[in-house]
Amino acid sequence: MRSVVAFNQSWTFREGFSRADAGRLQEGQPVTLPHSAIELPFNYFDEKSYQRAFTYQKTIVWDEAYTGHEISLVFDAAMADAVVYLNGEEIVAHKDGYTPFEARLTGRLREGENLITVKIDGSENPEIPPFGGRIDYLTYAGIYRDVWLKLTDPVFIDNIKVETADVLSDGKSATVRCDISNPQSLAFNGHVKVTLRSVDGKAIASGEAATSGESVTLSFDGLSGLSLWDLDNPVLYSAEVELASDRGTDRHAATFGFRTASFTAEGFLLNGKVLKLRGLNRHQAFPYVGYAMGRSAQKRDAELMKHTLKCNIVRTSHYPQSKWFLDHCDRIGLLVFEEIPGWQHIGDEEWQQESIRNVRRMIERDWNHPSIVIWGVRINESQDSHEFYAETNRLARELDPTRQTGGVRYITESELLEDVYTMNDFILGNEELPGANRPRTPLRPQQENTGLARDVPYLITEFGGHMYPTKIYDQEQRQAEHVRRHLEVLNAAYGDPSISGAIGWCMFDYNTHSDFGSGDRICYHGVMDMFREPKFAAYVYASQCEPSEEVVMKPVTIWARGERNIGGALPLIVLTNCDEIELRYGSLTKRLTPDRETFPHLPHAPVVFDHRSFTPDELGVWGMEWEDVHFTGYIGGKPVVEQHMVANPLPTSLQVDADADTLRAGERDTVRVVVRALDQAGSRLAFLNEAITVKVNGPAKVVGPATLAFQGGTTGFWLQATGEVGAVELEVSSPRFASQRVHLIAK
Ligand code: GAL
Repeated sequence: MRSVVAFNQSWTFREGFSRADAGRLQEGQPVTLPHSAIELPFNYFDEKSYQRAFTYQKTIVWDEAYTGHEISLVFDAAMADAVVYLNGEEIVAHKDGYTPFEARLTGRLREGENLITVKIDGSENPEIPPFGGRIDYLTYAGIYRDVWLKLTDPVFIDNIKVETADVLSDGKSATVRCDISNPQSLAFNGHVKVTLRSVDGKAIASGEAATSGESVTLSFDGLSGLSLWDLDNPVLYSAEVELASDRGTDRHAATFGFRTASFTAEGFLLNGKVLKLRGLNRHQAFPYVGYAMGRSAQKRDAELMKHTLKCNIVRTSHYPQSKWFLDHCDRIGLLVFEEIPGWQHIGDEEWQQESIRNVRRMIERDWNHPSIVIWGVRINESQDSHEFYAETNRLARELDPTRQTGGVRYITESELLEDVYTMNDFILGNEELPGANRPRTPLRPQQENTGLARDVPYLITEFGGHMYPTKIYDQEQRQAEHVRRHLEVLNAAYGDPSISGAIGWCMFDYNTHSDFGSGDRICYHGVMDMFREPKFAAYVYASQCEPSEEVVMKPVTIWARGERNIGGALPLIVLTNCDEIELRYGSLTKRLTPDRETFPHLPHAPVVFDHRSFTPDELGVWGMEWEDVHFTGYIGGKPVVEQHMVANPLPTSLQVDADADTLRAGERDTVRVVVRALDQAGSRLAFLNEAITVKVNGPAKVVGPATLAFQGGTTGFWLQATGEVGAVELEVSSPRFASQRVHLIAK
């Protein structure tokens, strides 16, 4: 038997921790997991506020059904240095804040009530990664992922590993290794049956074997009529394992896919075909509650990356992220670069051993995800460290010979112990440094970075970021330069077949320490803001998709006479996948094709209106009338998209956009809501920074403050289920607009 149920409800939380009181239920605040120990303001806060100990407690009442079973609590993650006590006795300690751990309760529960106490310590413990130096992100304290109560028979399935082979032939192969857990070291005679199934549950193949040991492997060959896992059609299969022994039964399944992925000196190949990787880095952070966002918010980020930003890869900078996120990447066809926790600093021998254990934990948790195509086994941007990284690579290859390793560095001529030279290339912008003698360069040649005489598998893992921080409400000219830099680097990556692809820094703005960012504890490095609202640069990525997927046309302008230096709107970049863009201004009409001269390699170069096609006074000069503009995108000579922008924007409507209309009442579920102040043509009022108030009627609440200020004419919040079912009415009001009501259902 196997029962795994959520153990997230009815915890008591309090600040501080006392070892002497670990066996006694203390006063505290009732909370549901995932939970953040300290809710932070949006910005300008003291990041030390959560860097201390906290206590979570919950009672578990003895149930006759537990008799004769293995019982444990599975923590998907807690930040950090977690220690779990049962009735005052320490059961398990787990230092890493990003990987799961289990507290085995078997044989220790007494009849009646039992008390679980979890100490977590948000201090930046220098003994464990990523701590010991400085890090450009926050590690918010709390039991920020789910906890599960797991009940099995004494001999049960510990983990499943599926490896595929002959993927590109019609007769595919799979081996399924089933690791067995037998914590009581019982003698047993067992039998394992493995069934491969398609998503609709149809059996494809099955096999059986006897077992009385720790592991059993079954192989399947000649599997025909199966589909590949691909970006457009990410077909998943499951390997269902049934264990029957004289110590009980178990049934567990792993999801997997058939795909090949290889980084070569000639680029990246998915299922044998060259695919240029185009992606962004993602932190797992959200405003106010930091890491403590559950299933829906994790899934939503994956969808935004794939469907809004049209990326084909995400890097989970700089640690293993939520399984909800990774599961969804499998489901929607989004490739993943996953890496161990760390940031620049390498600690002592014990610290390194913990990092090596992180390699094991990450790979053993995630080896079946078809979306994951590379393991990052270096501390992000650390210096070379031969023995340490020889071991992380050795272990990764031993645990998973099917995937290549990478290790992200920014140093050049670094020792290549990995399969792929993964490089943060921040050369663009260096021309501004005093004494720089190199002209503006989007990416350095591969061999200059590697110091090797030959091309090797090579991937750009960061660019942009701190080289050009840009806020959603920054001056248009700065935002246009932000756009241009992302365009230039992507163009360079597309132009060099030896580069597997480029992953920009980063998907959205994030809270950070005062050593980084804009002093307000935010790095404004995203192509989206913290509410995941796109800046103009987001459309650099979005516009690279094919128009058959979505027609994109985004003029990089708010359309005003005097927003840019000296006035006017040129050069005006229109990010688009159309063949031609027509601009109409008064009686003036200009129709241009993409600027292939400047961006020859992009799948979809932008159209650039500048003085190559405008006389100096065609849009008029300072003091002249400013008029509306109308853009039309053409494909194959036919108009396919239009956008009108007005010369005299006025507050006209309040747009309240919820990602979903239902909330799962049984979980600490959330729905993101974005609010925009729009003018008469539907454009965001880029400098409307007034307040809005959110009122909720029904079983939901706003995460963070209910009075919010627009930033660049937009803001957002997450609505969170409070546990009961029922209708939820959201009312957003502001002094400038008629109130808006949105209806959701918590069920
Ligand atoms: C990199 C680092 C990232 C982030 C980025 C900002 O050096 O790996 O975590 O700090 O810079 O551009």
